[in-house]
Amino acid sequence: MKIKNFKIFHFKKIDSTNAYAKNIASEVINDKTIIVADKQTAGRGRLGRTFISNRGGLYFSIILNPEKSAQDTVFITVAAAVAVARAIESISQKKCDIKWVNDIYIENKKVCGILTEGVFDNNGKIKSAILGVGINLFETREKFPKNVPLADSIFHKGDKILFKNCKRKQLLKEFLKEFFKFYYNLEKKEYMDEYKKKSFLKGKKITYVQDDKNYIATVKDIDNNANLIVVTQDKEEVLSHGEIQIIGMEQLPV
Ligand code: BTN
Repeated sequence: MKIKNFKIFHFKKIDSTNAYAKNIASEVINDKTIIVADKQTAGRGRLGRTFISNRGGLYFSIILNPEKSAQDTVFITVAAAVAVARAIESISQKKCDIKWVNDIYIENKKVCGILTEGVFDNNGKIKSAILGVGINLFETREKFPKNVPLADSIFHKGDKILFKNCKRKQLLKEFLKEFFKFYYNLEKKEYMDEYKKKSFLKGKKITYVQDDKNYIATVKDIDNNANLIVVTQDKEEVLSHGEIQIIGMEQLPV
């Protein structure tokens, strides 16, 4: 998967690469268009949140035409989580963990988020999937707002050598190489074992919300459909989506 085979739109500053990608998605007929930005002024996160996207990160969106059901966008996200974890590990030599569904953590801090958005036709059929990835590379900890206490960057001052060596283009290339290996055979789920292995939730106590009620549970496993299997006081539950918080880590959303 060579980077020269992609059509790349590079912006020094943009509101949101996902928003831009959504706007042009109808004109794009293959899986080879990427929008990259050095900074976003209105970076979008999951659940309508803002994704802080100052200079010092890599923010990109890929327009995919998956010819799959909307449900398969879950697997796009899961494959992307493994691919981005591999790419970060290869350029930083730091170990990445995955927090279900789609956050990448290093040493208990979130360094990357993924947001997959669908573009639908009039019949509700998915036309394109916009895969958006935001990676915090160099931004200093203090630049993240106080209400996102778990956000951090991959590289810090002490990491000078890695700092110099980190090439954003290299990171993007690594990601594309890893992601498209999975994407073209999405249904084979070759990413799933590694997704489970890198997931750091197993055995952890968590809280989650369902039907406006708060639950406390222990994470038992992740199944082959990327559902989270949790055990509450009285029963086992299968969570297919939503937001969980790990008890004992800071409780504010990131
Ligand atoms: C999350 O952590 O909630 C998901 C964050 C996804 C952020 C990326 S940055 C590139 C792309 N453009 C956006 O506006 N959002 C995604």
